[in-house]
Amino acid sequence: MVIFFNTFKLKEQPIGIFDSGVGGLTVAHAIKQILPYENLIYFGDTAHLPYGDKSAEAIESYSRKITEFLLERNVKVVVIACNSASASAFGTLKKEFGSKTLIIDVIDPVVDYMGTRDFKKIGVIGTKRTISSGMYETKLKEKSPGTSVISMATPLLVPMIEEGFIFDDISNAIIRAYLSNHTLDGIQALILGCTHYPIIKNQISKIFNFNVEVVDSAKIVSLLLKDTLERNNLLNSRGKSADQFFISDYTPYFEKIARMFFEGEINLKKADIWS
Ligand code: DGL
Repeated sequence: MVIFFNTFKLKEQPIGIFDSGVGGLTVAHAIKQILPYENLIYFGDTAHLPYGDKSAEAIESYSRKITEFLLERNVKVVVIACNSASASAFGTLKKEFGSKTLIIDVIDPVVDYMGTRDFKKIGVIGTKRTISSGMYETKLKEKSPGTSVISMATPLLVPMIEEGFIFDDISNAIIRAYLSNHTLDGIQALILGCTHYPIIKNQISKIFNFNVEVVDSAKIVSLLLKDTLERNNLLNSRGKSADQFFISDYTPYFEKIARMFFEGEINLKKADIWS
């Protein structure tokens, strides 16, 4: 099937944003703080969660389909609010859809931000897919060759958060078990290389006695998005926003966590894009 998308964009069109589940809501929330008049169309691919365990090819094909779904809903920009998808699919999405829409990932903006700082030792935590891609390590070392980068996969954190284990003894024990690893000793900054992790940012900072800069992509990406929309004359600075949230399968905690970030009624629908 050949699908034609409108390449001419207007300010009033929504922003498309996707992740495997609730993680991208951390980015969506930051976008709304900075761009309150924008309409969001959020897609959480809960049917395939977690992405971090999947192959790069599988994530690429999910990301392609979700991008088509968002473009069919006339978005003016696609934000890949997922590190695993940014590591596996950003190149492909740019190649296949870059002439039809603006596309923003979550890894490059964070790497650019780190390039403005002078850290000697940086830790990166993320899913197995993101860490094994080596994307952060390679890009950070390109920017600052003298910096030591310690990467660590922390695969239990996403299922833990999606199951609602946050701010409790279970989440504290898991976070501590990962982050007390001595390879992280002496880090000056820790990159949260998964958009789910800002939900537990405070617990993570606590492990380091708040002495380590814990960096997440939410605000950094939102500022880049604002700048990109401005430069392309696509910034919506008036009007009433009506966000829409889609998930590919029902999960008990999606709505609950969405309400933590977005007050009031959540316009949540199941979109069966895989059948
Ligand atoms: N929040 C995502 C990320 O940034 C996906 C995590 C997952 O589904 O494993 O990597």
